[in-house]
Amino acid sequence: MDENIVILTGGSRGIGHATSKRFWEKGWRVITCSRSEVAPQCPWEKSKRDHIQIDLENLHDLNTKIQDLKKLLDGRPVKALINNAAISPKNNDNKRLNFNETNVDLWQKVFNVNFFAPIILSKNLIENLQSANGVIINITSIASDMVHEFAGPAYATSKAALKSLTREMASDLSKYNIRVNAIAPGEIETSMITKDSQHLVNKIPMGRFGKPEEVASVIYSMCSESFSYVNGTEIAINGGQTV
Ligand SMILES: NC(=O)c1ccc[n+]([C@@H]2O[C@H](COP(=O)([O-])OP(=O)(O)OC[C@H]3O[C@@H](n4cnc5c(N)ncnc54)[C@H](OP(=O)(O)O)[C@@H]3O)[C@@H](O)[C@H]2O)c1
Repeated sequence: MDENIVILTGGSRGIGHATSKRFWEKGWRVITCSRSEVAPQCPWEKSKRDHIQIDLENLHDLNTKIQDLKKLLDGRPVKALINNAAISPKNNDNKRLNFNETNVDLWQKVFNVNFFAPIILSKNLIENLQSANGVIINITSIASDMVHEFAGPAYATSKAALKSLTREMASDLSKYNIRVNAIAPGEIETSMITKDSQHLVNKIPMGRFGKPEEVASVIYSMCSESFSYVNGTEIAINGGQTV
């Protein structure tokens, strides 16, 4: 029987975990990766086999682990790749790490996880995605387009780069029948939100933060036939925060 395969980075918690769960509940085979082992809350049976433990900061390691992933796939079509894992370093007071405080080494690490890892993964999975008329979803951020109180410039510029990469990839990969889109979450209740973020609720017309499941359901829908003519765009999920 043909199975729908989704590969998702950062499936261990937050939006990534909710998204993995959503696909799994709909009968997809879910292949995840993160620095930690399979999270205990993962309900699916084959999660150990279908989990690659990796630190995406280390691009050399990524290139090695991609060989493991290719072996696991054994040429199977991949219906969706969700580039979700990201880091957003803070300063010692858990506040925004500003331009002066961000050294170039750290900037590079942020770009490795948030920008170069999606490029490397996507490049290596083109054939698998092509054979499924697949979809790539890049998870960007509200911080791609505005200065954010908690997201520093390394994170914001990595997400802005990922947003324009989405456009470029959509243009170049359409000929392989691969669609590429982005979703830009606002304030979603995950470990990225701290108790210091609570006052941001006042800036959200809907008067509350989003839930990881609300992001997961958009990502899932964007991988369906209902979105078959949507390509190269970014959908904001932020309760109206940018109106
Ligand atoms: N939550 C928000 O309000 C918000 C807002 C805007 C955008 N976003 C975006 O939404 C996506 C998910 O965010 P989230 O809030 O769910 O984040 P989260 O709760 O911090 O989870 C991040 C995930 O990425 C993995 N990860 C982090 N660094 C990694 C690395 N070096 N190598 C491999 N995996 C790594 C983590 O697993 P391990 O720790 O096990 O490695 C975890 O599964 C991110 O792209 C984020 O930028 C979130």
